[in-house]
Amino acid sequence: MTSQISLLYLLSGALFILGLKGLTAPASARRGNYFAMAGMALAVLATLMNSEVTSYGFIAAGIALGGGIGTLIALKIKMTAMPQLVAILHSFVGLAAVLVALGTYANRAALGTLNTTLMWELFAGILIGAITFTGSLVAFGKLQAILSPRAISFPGRHVLNGALFLCMIAFGVDFVAHESILSLAMMTLLALTLGAMLVMAIGGADMPVVVSMLNSYSGWAAAATGFTLHNHLLIITGAIVGFSGAILSYIMSRAMNRSIVNVIFGGFGAQSADDAMEGIVGDKTVKAAAIDDAVFMMENASNVIVVPGYGMAVAQAQLALSGLLEALADKDVNLHFAIHPVAGRMPGHMNVLLAEADVPYENVIEMDEINPRFSGTDVVLVVGANDVTNPAAKSDESSPIFGMPILEVDRAKQIFVIKRSMKPGYSGVDNHLYYSENCSMIFGDAKEVCEGLVSKLKAA
Ligand code: TAP
Repeated sequence: MTSQISLLYLLSGALFILGLKGLTAPASARRGNYFAMAGMALAVLATLMNSEVTSYGFIAAGIALGGGIGTLIALKIKMTAMPQLVAILHSFVGLAAVLVALGTYANRAALGTLNTTLMWELFAGILIGAITFTGSLVAFGKLQAILSPRAISFPGRHVLNGALFLCMIAFGVDFVAHESILSLAMMTLLALTLGAMLVMAIGGADMPVVVSMLNSYSGWAAAATGFTLHNHLLIITGAIVGFSGAILSYIMSRAMNRSIVNVIFGGFGAQSADDAMEGIVGDKTVKAAAIDDAVFMMENASNVIVVPGYGMAVAQAQLALSGLLEALADKDVNLHFAIHPVAGRMPGHMNVLLAEADVPYENVIEMDEINPRFSGTDVVLVVGANDVTNPAAKSDESSPIFGMPILEVDRAKQIFVIKRSMKPGYSGVDNHLYYSENCSMIFGDAKEVCEGLVSKLKAA
C-alpha cells in the first residue's frame, strides 16, 4: 500500500506542476486549474488510503464543514476581494503548521523521545508558520480596509525586530536542546509578534509583493509540516509553493523597483501617505470634461490606449471596453490596452477581466512594451486606474511610491481619466497626473461612462 500511496503522491506532484505551467498564460489557465484540481483529488484519496487513518468520521465531518464554507465563500467572493481571500488562506496554512507542530509536541509521550531532527522540524514549523499566520492576518486586515493601508513605522523599529528575532532563535535553540515548554511558548509568541510587525511596516501600494512573499512562506510552512508528519506530498507541494512564491515575489519586486531584501525585513513603503499628501494638493485645479469631449477626440484620433485599473474591476466596465474596441475599429481607430503588473488587486487581474470580455490578447500590451508608445498616442483613456499612472513615482523622491515603474500616460497628447471623485488610489497618494495641461477628468462610474462613450461613438 505504501508504494501505491507514494506513486499517487508523485502523480499529484506532477499534476500540480502541470497546473502551475498552465497558469502562466490566460489561454491555458483553465486547463492548469483542472490539472491542479485532479492533483488535489488524488492527494486526498492517497492520504485516506494510509493505514494510519483508522477512523473516517472526523475526516468526513472536516471535509463537509471546510468544503461547505469554502464553496460558499468561492461562490460569493467578488473578484476585487480575491487578494484578501488569498491572504487569509495563507494565514490558515501558517496556523495549521503551528498547530501540527504543537500537537506533535503535546503528543510526545505517545511518540517516545523526540529526536533532535524532529525538534528542529518543530522549531522550523512553528517559526515559519507563526510568522506566516500573523503576517497574513495583518495583510488581510490592510487589504480588507479593517486596518489602515498606511505603513506603521517608528524609530528603532529595525533594532526591535532584530532583537525579537534573536530572542526567538535563542528560545528556539533552548527548546530543541531541552524540550522546554516555556521556551516553546516564548518562541511561538515572539514569532507571532514578528510576523505582525513586519507586515504592519509595509505601505499599501507595496502590498502585492508582500502577499506573494507570504504565499512563499506558507509553502515553506507546509513543507516543514510535511517533514514533521513524514508526508512526502506536503514536502513536494510546500517546496513548489515556496519556490514559485519566491520567484513571483522577485519578479514583482523588480516590476515595482523594490528590493526583495526590504520585503523580507518589512522595510520599504515606510513613509506615510499622509506625509506625501502634504503640500501636493494645495490650490491646484483640474479640468473636468464631458463624454462628448472624449468622443470627439477619440473619433478623430488614429490611436487610443486604454489604461484599466482597480476601478474598472469595481465597476465591471470590461464589457463596455470591449464594445469601445469594436466601436473605434469601425472608425479605423486603433485601440490597445496597457497593463501595469500591479494594476487592480492581484497579479493578472486586468488580463483576466479583459479576457473574460473577449478582448483579443494581441490588443493587450504589457507595461515595458507599451511605455515607449505613449508619446506617439493621440488619446489615453484611464479607466479607474490611479497609482499605476502617477508621475510622482518618477519625479517626487518624497512619495511613498517613488521608484515604482508606472504607465507613462503623461507623455500622450491628450488624457481622459474616468473616476468618481478626486479621492486617491490604494496607496493614498495624490496623483500629479490630474493637474497636467493635457489631462481632463470625466467624473462618474467607469461602466456608465464607458457605455456612454460606446453609444455616442456608434451614433456619431
Ligand atoms: P488604484 O490606485 O487603487 O485606484 C483605483 C481608482 O479607481 C481609485 O482612485 C478610484 O477613484 C477609482 N474607482 C473605484 N471605483 C470606481 C468606479 N466604480 N468607477 C470609476 N472609478 C472607480 O488602482 P490601480 O491604479 O489599479 O493601482 C493598483 C493599486 O493597488 C497599486 O497601488 C497596487 O500596488 C495596489 N495593489 C495591487 C495588488 C495587485 S497584485 N495588483 C494587490 C494589492 C494592492 P474614485 O474613488 O474617485 O472613483
